[in-house]
Amino acid sequence: MARATSFARNPIFTIFQHLEKLYNPIINERKRGGIYLSDLAYSSPNDTVFTIRNVQVKFGEGVSTEVGYEAKRLGMTDVLIVTDRNIHENTDMVAHIADRLTDKGISVDVFDGVHIEPTDAEVAKGIEYTTGKGHDGFIGLGGGSSIDTAKMINLYTTHPTDDFKDYISPPIGKGKPVPSPLEPHIAIPTTAGTGSENTPIAVVDLVQEKLKTAVSHPYLLPDYALLDPVLTISLPPYYTASTGMDALLHSIEAYTCIPYDTRPRPESPGKRPVYVGSNPVSDIFVEKSIELIGRHVRTACHEPTDLEARHHMLLAAHLGGAFGNAGVHIPHALSYPIAGRNHEIPHGVAVCITGAAALEFLEPKVPEKLGRVARLLGEETGGLSKAEVAASAKEALLSLMKDIDFPSGIADLGFGEEDIDELASAGIKISRLLSCSPRRVKLEDIREIYRKSLHNW
Ligand SMILES: [Fe+2]
Repeated sequence: MARATSFARNPIFTIFQHLEKLYNPIINERKRGGIYLSDLAYSSPNDTVFTIRNVQVKFGEGVSTEVGYEAKRLGMTDVLIVTDRNIHENTDMVAHIADRLTDKGISVDVFDGVHIEPTDAEVAKGIEYTTGKGHDGFIGLGGGSSIDTAKMINLYTTHPTDDFKDYISPPIGKGKPVPSPLEPHIAIPTTAGTGSENTPIAVVDLVQEKLKTAVSHPYLLPDYALLDPVLTISLPPYYTASTGMDALLHSIEAYTCIPYDTRPRPESPGKRPVYVGSNPVSDIFVEKSIELIGRHVRTACHEPTDLEARHHMLLAAHLGGAFGNAGVHIPHALSYPIAGRNHEIPHGVAVCITGAAALEFLEPKVPEKLGRVARLLGEETGGLSKAEVAASAKEALLSLMKDIDFPSGIADLGFGEEDIDELASAGIKISRLLSCSPRRVKLEDIREIYRKSLHNW
């Protein structure tokens, strides 16, 4: 009797009792031929799963000085810094990073052939540069173009292929899965916008096809990101504006994506798309991102050395990188034909320029979410109807664009009414992104969005 009492007081026995209470109803139901876990979890024809995939991050003023420590921890011994010539020749950022690496006994090489909006030919030069040199780690230093180029050089040298399009997303490429993890990659952004450090996607411009497309695979996500607001101070106002609005559109598009549980269940886990749709976690990230950009982008553009604004913009851009799980849709899809025809147009400009018309197109489908976007951007919506509140998101976006001296429309970028058919025919092909839109997009809808975007004001 004494033994039974002491057994009952044993904490493991107590836990067992709790578990028994918890599971007995299910066990009994099973005995009656009733509920099975497989019935509960997998009966829906739609997917029930979303992905929370975030790069490991250190954030804060001066954190880039810790690059040597992190590179060593990741096992790097011979590093290739991937950057652009402007950063290499006109700033001391490459030297700053290289010194911290050599301090830890790591060999450093630099490829500075990254161009804004990288093409397949430029990426090929980077692949050629590193092939046979034995680099065992990569550091993408710069804007999204440098980080994306580092991802692709890493991919194509770790898993070489004869055809560049093998890893490009369908229907343009073959969408071949990446066989195994890549070499370690530390991303160090010098712009606050692309969120590339937090996405498993690399955007590339296919010269022959005149089309921007992407390689996307979970293995492309960098291993670590060092987010140092100090490195973004030297970014000129025009690029602060374009990258900041890119970040804003990432967040708005991710927020208004089709919800993850309205997609059909994939045939296998490997076939689940990288962009799973909006979900409770990405919503939290991008809501904060929208709010921060609404508060700080004007200051970051007009007072470039305001470190507080730079701090919040870098954080906002990173949070907006949650689009790498949720997805982006119409403005990003329609940016590809614009930028593919004029490589001088920064990505963020090409994206944001159709943003207002795209939001107007979505108003009937996601009025609540657009209303929330408007409020996060500081719009007063009291007393307005549901439709008016939704429409105020577009007004808030236009007001921001005007305040930071954005071009007024694609006419300012050199496009006219006569280009719209060609742009729309190219845009409808970006099905990877258009499929994330909460409203089905037809060719005529795209024509109309481009037409309205000729002059936003
Ligand atoms: Fe973007």
